Amino acid sequence: MEPVIEIVEARLHAPTVADEIVASISDTLAEKDRCSLVLSGGSTPAAIYRNLSRPPRVAEIEWDKIALYWGDERWVAKDNNLSNYHMVDETLLHNLSDPLPQCFSVDTSLESAEAGALDYERVISAEEGVAAGEYPKFDIVLLGVGEDGHFASVFPHSSHLAADPFAQPAPICFAAENPDDGTRRVSLSPAAILSAQRIFVLVKGSGKSEIVRKVLEGGEFTPDIPASILHFARGRLRWFIDSEAAQKLAQFRG
Ligand code: 6PG
Repeated sequence: MEPVIEIVEARLHAPTVADEIVASISDTLAEKDRCSLVLSGGSTPAAIYRNLSRPPRVAEIEWDKIALYWGDERWVAKDNNLSNYHMVDETLLHNLSDPLPQCFSVDTSLESAEAGALDYERVISAEEGVAAGEYPKFDIVLLGVGEDGHFASVFPHSSHLAADPFAQPAPICFAAENPDDGTRRVSLSPAAILSAQRIFVLVKGSGKSEIVRKVLEGGEFTPDIPASILHFARGRLRWFIDSEAAQKLAQFRG
C-alpha cells in the first residue's frame, strides 16, 4: 500500500500526531473493544506522549481498552534513563489515572536480551492470540527513524532485514545490538511491525532530512537503510514528517 506522507509545521508535529493517534484509537474501538498500541522509543515521541497524557486528549482515550506494547527496548533496568519504558512512564504513564491501560513491556530483569526477546514473543503471542508461524496484527504501531535509517532496533544490515520480510518465517521479537555503542536491545521484527493495521512513522528535525529523502525518494529496499523496507507494510502506512525533516524532499522544495 502506498504510504501517505504528511508534512507538518515543526511546532505542530506533536499535537497533530497526538490527534491522529486519538482518532485512530477511536476508529479501532468503533470496530472492537480493545486497541493494541505499540509505542516507539527515542526522543521524538516524548512530546507526543505528553500531549496524549494531558487534557483534552487524555479524556478522549478509553485507556482501559488500550493494550500498550513497546516496539523495542534497551537492555537496561526500567528505571534507567536510557530505558524506553522509563521514557514512556515519565511522559505518559505516570500522568494517567484509573482506569489505566494494560502495559506489556519487555522484561529486562531476565538474564539476557535473547531471553527477553523469547519472553516478549511469548507475551505478545498470548495477549494478541497469535497462532504459531503467524504475526500479531497490532492496531497501531508508532515508529521513529534514526539518521542511519533504523527503526525500532532494526539496524543497518540486520540479519532480520530481507528484500521481502514475509518471504521466510521470522520471529516476532529478536535480540539486537546497537552498532554505535554495542548496547543490547530487544526489538519487534520487521514482519511483526509490518503486519500492523496502521503504522505511524514519526520524524522531526533537520538532522533527519537526508535519511527522509533517501527513504522516500530512494525507491528500492536496501539493507543499508532499514526504513526502506517499510513500504512492505500490510496495513496503512503514514509518515508524519515535520517541515525541518522534509526540507530535502522534492515535493516539499516545490
Ligand atoms: C530507540 C527507538 C529508535 C528511535 C530512533 C529515532 O529505542 O531509540 O526505538 O528506533 O525511534 O532511533 O530516535 P529519535 O526519535 O530520538 O530521533
